[in-house]
Amino acid sequence: NNRVVIFDLDGVIVDTAKFHFLAWRKLANDLGFDITEEQNEELKGVSRVHSLNKILKWGEVELTEAEFQKQMALKNENYLSYVEKMDQEEILPGVTKVLDHLTENNVPFALGSASKNAPVILKKIGLYDRFEAIVDGNDVSKAKPDPEVFLVAADKLRASAANCIVFEDSVAGVRAANRANMLSIGIGSRNNLHEADYVFPDFTEISIEFIEKILRN
Ligand code: BG6
Ligand code: MG
Repeated sequence: NNRVVIFDLDGVIVDTAKFHFLAWRKLANDLGFDITEEQNEELKGVSRVHSLNKILKWGEVELTEAEFQKQMALKNENYLSYVEKMDQEEILPGVTKVLDHLTENNVPFALGSASKNAPVILKKIGLYDRFEAIVDGNDVSKAKPDPEVFLVAADKLRASAANCIVFEDSVAGVRAANRANMLSIGIGSRNNLHEADYVFPDFTEISIEFIEKILRN
């Protein structure tokens, strides 16, 4: 069997989506407007630059290039104040069971994340050394829904796209996986992620039988 697995990070392995939302919301509030949880769905999986562009559009705010850079830095500083407190306890329920099963069965797995903070988060939660390859926001130029991040991960795993299984919580990420011709597994609500090949509310709902099934198919 030559199947491999690619995991998104934020919202799949850890619930950092809530920290990103808090930090973006503070930025919006400081600029004089607010953002909703619904708008936040559109920010999931999206790079830092693209996220700020979307938020500024929603708030009808225009910034100079220097102010834009400053707001990005402030947002990241605020976000990292949450990340700093993270530890192994933050690994979402059911994730470790799946990673252990893959390791025991010699199925290689990689990270495919839009975040430039991915390495620091993986170190915080003690999973950094478990991934065969880590591809993150520092390694790609085209943001999800562009498939680049997953194609680079496949390359590093020396796997063809057709043999890759992707776990994603974002609409943009599911689209990226589909565009890469990979099997997409959505983690979250069926409403948001209906474009995925399979959707589960979280990893506790994913059985080892299901993992075995997709590895064999
Ligand atoms: C994605 C998150 O994984 O990474 C987005 O879903 C985030 O919310 C993006 O904006 C970029 O992350 P970072 O850590 O580089 O700002
Ligand atoms: Mg995500």
